Amino acid sequence: MYVCNCNGIREREVRAAIEAGAARPAEVFRHCDARPQCARCVCEMRDMIEDQAQALRFAAE
Ligand code: FES
Repeated sequence: MYVCNCNGIREREVRAAIEAGAARPAEVFRHCDARPQCARCVCEMRDMIEDQAQALRFAAE
């Protein structure tokens, strides 16, 4: 499934970027060698980053 239709960035690529340390959508774009265009995907990227951070917090408890 695509998260960013403008750049063809898939969900698994966003996850890989987050696992590699991307903590902001701009870093996800950088990791994917892409640039934001319409920015409609930014909210979903933020949600995915927050979900991952929350999962790590739970894992650490
Ligand atoms: S959907 Fe990602 S920049 Fe447009």
